[in-house]
Amino acid sequence: MVTGAPPIPRVELAHAPTPLLQLERLSEELGVEVWVKRDDLTGLVETGNKIRKLEFLVGEALAERADTLITCGTLQSNCCRTVAAVAARLGLRAILALKGAPPAELDGNLLLARLLGAELRSCTDAEWARIDEVLEELAAGVRRRGGTPYVIPESGATVTGALGYVACGEELAQQIRHGAPDFDTIVITAFSGGSQAGLLMAKQLYGLRGDVVGVPIAWEAARVRDYVTRIIGEARRRYALPVEAPAEIRLLDGYQGAGRGEVRTEELDTVVRLARTEGIVLDPVYTAKAFAGLLDRLHREPQALGPRVCFVHTGGVFSLFPFRRLLGRRLGGGLVES
Ligand SMILES: Cc1ncc(COP(=O)(O)O)c(C=O)c1O
Repeated sequence: MVTGAPPIPRVELAHAPTPLLQLERLSEELGVEVWVKRDDLTGLVETGNKIRKLEFLVGEALAERADTLITCGTLQSNCCRTVAAVAARLGLRAILALKGAPPAELDGNLLLARLLGAELRSCTDAEWARIDEVLEELAAGVRRRGGTPYVIPESGATVTGALGYVACGEELAQQIRHGAPDFDTIVITAFSGGSQAGLLMAKQLYGLRGDVVGVPIAWEAARVRDYVTRIIGEARRRYALPVEAPAEIRLLDGYQGAGRGEVRTEELDTVVRLARTEGIVLDPVYTAKAFAGLLDRLHREPQALGPRVCFVHTGGVFSLFPFRRLLGRRLGGGLVES
């Protein structure tokens, strides 16, 4: 249990503990044990890492008696979809500020967010460049109508959100104590690096032995490292957690591809490969890039991350569907020849 002084508000939302699963065929091929922590199973519409962050963010929102959650993201934002799901589950209002105008035909995460009743505000590029102000304007509008807003920045990227991955790391440490492999390395996708920061704190708090390695999928390495360092410092100050930013924040760098703007065929190939060899579906924007980075590292130097590696699957499957055409072309018809 993540504790601090004063006590940290939390609502239980994630289906946890999430399972650990060895990738049998891939491990044999690489000569290294590769495992997955299935944080894509933290829920159905709540799949992924955001629901863990929201346990603490929404805990704080409820402690402040908020009735409206406001957040922002890309049109296929996993965070926006998860906020919409949590709001519907708890009887709150959700307002999502989106980068761009929603397409005529809703799909993937955005379709679910609307299904779950979230209200949308589309932002031009100029508005997106000052998104914090836009979120504040939306919050002011809610207040004017007598509501109480709680603003969640993109990706739940705050120190409070990162506590979700302190809890995930605590859970992993418990699984290891109960017989799961004592992983040498724990690899996680990094957009902001908040989830990685959480695991790094858990390493110090709960005695995880393994190195925690992030794979940046959009930001450059220096920006991720700065963010991780800042968040750990804030956790120490705000929540009195006895943690310190490590001198070295390990990243597998160079796998950002086209960032979050575009999905390349390499990413889709990774999605297809893992689906067909192990029955696990990655998302094309975040986890496929990170997993491709992990595979590349292990192909070039199989023992680089030690004999037992755990990849934290942070979810995001719904953003696969808007790529149905591109993906469909790679899959072919699949008809059996008789
Ligand atoms: C599926 C998925 N994985 C990983 C991340 C990265 O999370 P973080 O911002 O904590 O690095 C995100 C969020 O942006 C995500 O949607």
